[in-house]
Amino acid sequence: MRRPAGAEIPVAALTGGGLRDWLFAKRDRLLSRPAFQRWALRFLPTRAIARRRARELFDLCAGFVYSQTLLACVQLGLLEKLRDGPQSLEALARDLRLPRDALRALVRAAAALQLVRLPGGDQCALGALGAALLGNPALFAMIAHHQLLYRDLEDPLALLRAKGTSRLAQYWAYAGATRAQEIPAPRVRDYTALMSTSQALIGQQILDAYPLDRHRCLLDVGGGDGTFALLAAERVRRLRVICFDLPAVAQCARARFASSRFVDRASVMQGNFLSDPLPSGPDVISLVRVLHDHDDPAALTILRAARAALSPDGVVLIAEPLSGTRGGERAADAYFGWYLFAMGTGMPRTAARLTELLVEAGFKAPKLHATAVPMNVRVLTARIAPQQSAGYCVNVD
Ligand SMILES: C[S@@+](CC[C@H](N)C(=O)[O-])C[C@H]1O[C@@H](n2cnc3c(N)ncnc32)[C@H](O)[C@@H]1O
Repeated sequence: MRRPAGAEIPVAALTGGGLRDWLFAKRDRLLSRPAFQRWALRFLPTRAIARRRARELFDLCAGFVYSQTLLACVQLGLLEKLRDGPQSLEALARDLRLPRDALRALVRAAAALQLVRLPGGDQCALGALGAALLGNPALFAMIAHHQLLYRDLEDPLALLRAKGTSRLAQYWAYAGATRAQEIPAPRVRDYTALMSTSQALIGQQILDAYPLDRHRCLLDVGGGDGTFALLAAERVRRLRVICFDLPAVAQCARARFASSRFVDRASVMQGNFLSDPLPSGPDVISLVRVLHDHDDPAALTILRAARAALSPDGVVLIAEPLSGTRGGERAADAYFGWYLFAMGTGMPRTAARLTELLVEAGFKAPKLHATAVPMNVRVLTARIAPQQSAGYCVNVD
């Protein structure tokens, strides 16, 4: 039954009944009163907070408009056109084949979002966020790719009620596949290219967080076309790297390795990590953006396969965005939460949950390593446990 606005919430109805919950309930009751909101906007000491809250709420309502403004800029190539300096709106309209008033509407929106700047006199220049975006080409691929997720989210309730029937579930051909090793090449091409491009957002950060210098052989499981393995080979002079993925994806890695400088110490193995053993003997196994694609039973299977394949001094390295990351809540739980739900399998996990899975799979002493942009990726390593031992997670963030 809905409670009338402003009605008292009985203390007994508060979850847990603790002082904290009671205080939150009191706060929420106040915040939800229009009269309190008006008062907070008039009262000088609370005005700034009230305005900030109003802005935050508006951003939640209007976020889709912001992301579509961004998409329009990317599709038009507007930011690239401003790379070498400001341009007149007249020249841009001609170049982009847009009516003047349409371009004006777009650049005003983009200026409000700091993608461009309108210095006056019919000029348009790069904005601070637009300039930063130009330095991250991987984001352009992600922004274009988001059209799929955007369409899936058009009716969020339909998506919630029919998990795994989305466009994203089709795109990620292995999601929910019973015989993933039979997926043909055309079905892996797009996602493999996207993963390769978007490695630019995380690959170096992972290798900064956990340098591989003391290792001799890296097995990158679910390694796509080998982009991360090649970055590792480039960083560590004597490191042997093996990329393991589904047969159709392994083909792409073979082609890349054959034309790379590392052909003598980079190799590719193919198989299904849910049913095949992994190549044995590496002293470090990486799982980059792999575990969060899978539900717990599959994630455990992968970790156990890694445990069985590693040398006795071996280390498993998990790199993905983690739930519970301070400052990264929106990325992990809102963005990746929906993304993986739409995909139909997997979820963002906390470091604590990964630790439980690691221990169950026979690893010990998990450590979290600091990364430059924790909302994009965090790094967790663990060593082989001789026997099952109680796990604890050491945070070296
Ligand atoms: C999200 S992508 C990550 C790729 C790469 N690690 C990266 O971060 O760029 C997941 C990878 O796992 C691979 N994969 C999924 N299911 C697999 C399976 N059952 N066996 C082997 N590889 C699999 C996919 O083909 C894909 O390359």
